[in-house]
Amino acid sequence: MQLTRSMPVDTTPVTCEVAAPSRALYFALLDAPDDAAVRNRAADYLNAKLDEASALPCDLPPDPAGLGDWLEAHTAKIGGQYQAYLDERRAGAPRRYFTSKAHALHFLRGVAPTKLVDGAWLYGLLQRWDDARFTSLIQTYLEELGEGQPEKNHVVLYRKLLASQGCDDWQTLDDDNFVQGVIQLALAEHAEQFMPEVIGFNLGYEQLPLHLLISSYELTELGIDPYYFTLHVTVDNADNGHAKKAIQGLLAAWPQVGDSEEFYRRVMNGYRLNDLGASTLSVIGGFDPEQEVMRVLEKKAGVGQFVHSDYCRFDGRTVNQWLAEPEQIPQFIETLQRRSWIKRHEDPQNSRFWQLITGEQAPMFGVFSAHEQQLIHDWIAGDWLAEQTPTRGKPRPSLAQRQVPFSSRRRTSTERPAKPALVQQGQHVSDFDQEALLLEQQLTQLPTREARMRHLLPLLAPTRHHSAAGLLATRIFTGLFN
Ligand SMILES: [Fe+2]
Repeated sequence: MQLTRSMPVDTTPVTCEVAAPSRALYFALLDAPDDAAVRNRAADYLNAKLDEASALPCDLPPDPAGLGDWLEAHTAKIGGQYQAYLDERRAGAPRRYFTSKAHALHFLRGVAPTKLVDGAWLYGLLQRWDDARFTSLIQTYLEELGEGQPEKNHVVLYRKLLASQGCDDWQTLDDDNFVQGVIQLALAEHAEQFMPEVIGFNLGYEQLPLHLLISSYELTELGIDPYYFTLHVTVDNADNGHAKKAIQGLLAAWPQVGDSEEFYRRVMNGYRLNDLGASTLSVIGGFDPEQEVMRVLEKKAGVGQFVHSDYCRFDGRTVNQWLAEPEQIPQFIETLQRRSWIKRHEDPQNSRFWQLITGEQAPMFGVFSAHEQQLIHDWIAGDWLAEQTPTRGKPRPSLAQRQVPFSSRRRTSTERPAKPALVQQGQHVSDFDQEALLLEQQLTQLPTREARMRHLLPLLAPTRHHSAAGLLATRIFTGLFN
């Protein structure tokens, strides 16, 4: 079945396959996951990455019987590290990850290719929905999809988060930022060939990391809704969450007849795949505000005509002339600072360049997105921004307290997934409901539960589950599965 890509992307020229192989494969897997050539490329990619991963260290216990203790020790270690972090902050330490809101937005954008396919690695197991060995892992997948409830579907949530912060221009990120996303999409397509690796990857991905706790805390502090991240703190918990289910899934699939040593070796290698490509910490560490400002200005260079008045000249050139040549932008920024149009490390309101791009009467009003404005603002503000932090040196409220303003805005639903509500015959159906009606009609024509589940499966794929039809299909599938 030909799938329709539902994520906005830039055109990816064929030459990108050489320059940015992971990015090219990522979009190919979103565009045409059923295409034989794309599938072959995905399998080759996985084999190459597994080869690369095999050289990395692995902290899993040599005997899977020790996984329970390993999980407990990991959870205790992370808990202790997080407590130490909170103590530091209470004693007045600055944020550990995000120097500014622009820095946090850089992180949200940088990990977007991974987060937008959240859960994908487990999709291939759905074909085995009637095999009890995979029940806990399929439950994990359905929970990643919020069991079809949009307010709990992880991909829907991340898409909304990106859109709300103006960070949805992630398609041109570096190749490294796409590695994890490709691994996840490739595992989705090749579970039959890489089942132990899927289980191992899941075991690594679903462990609660320290960075999830710290980033949740600091996003809240910067006024960014942390729900996508705090949700994972609860779903990955070691007691009954995805971390525990990951171990159950591994033990349930343990070979009874085959070579268990080889199985566990492959699980370990799948586990190591988590360490390839850009990570949360490398994305955060790679933030260079000046470079980001240049990237934004270079992007705008193509717009060309947005500054109508040419009366301002810097070193004999109009703003349009400066921006017409991307390679001149570093020099342009330097000139703006020298001519005091940009006054670094001061309130940006003191900078004429800032005045030029904000305010309704500004010549460049509307040219820069909210994210881009934040970036320029925080870069100009520099050290001044740190001095403005009102809570420096004061005890911080707990994460739970900080979550209130966001969580109180959110509709919390504890309802079970809705059963399909078939539209009554003869009732008028709007264009918006046609998809749902069609799907329900198709299902009623199928004779068995098994046939209905098979029919629904393609709609639960990583590229489709977050669409209206995909969410409906997930709700129905969850109802049939449980
Ligand atoms: Fe998730």
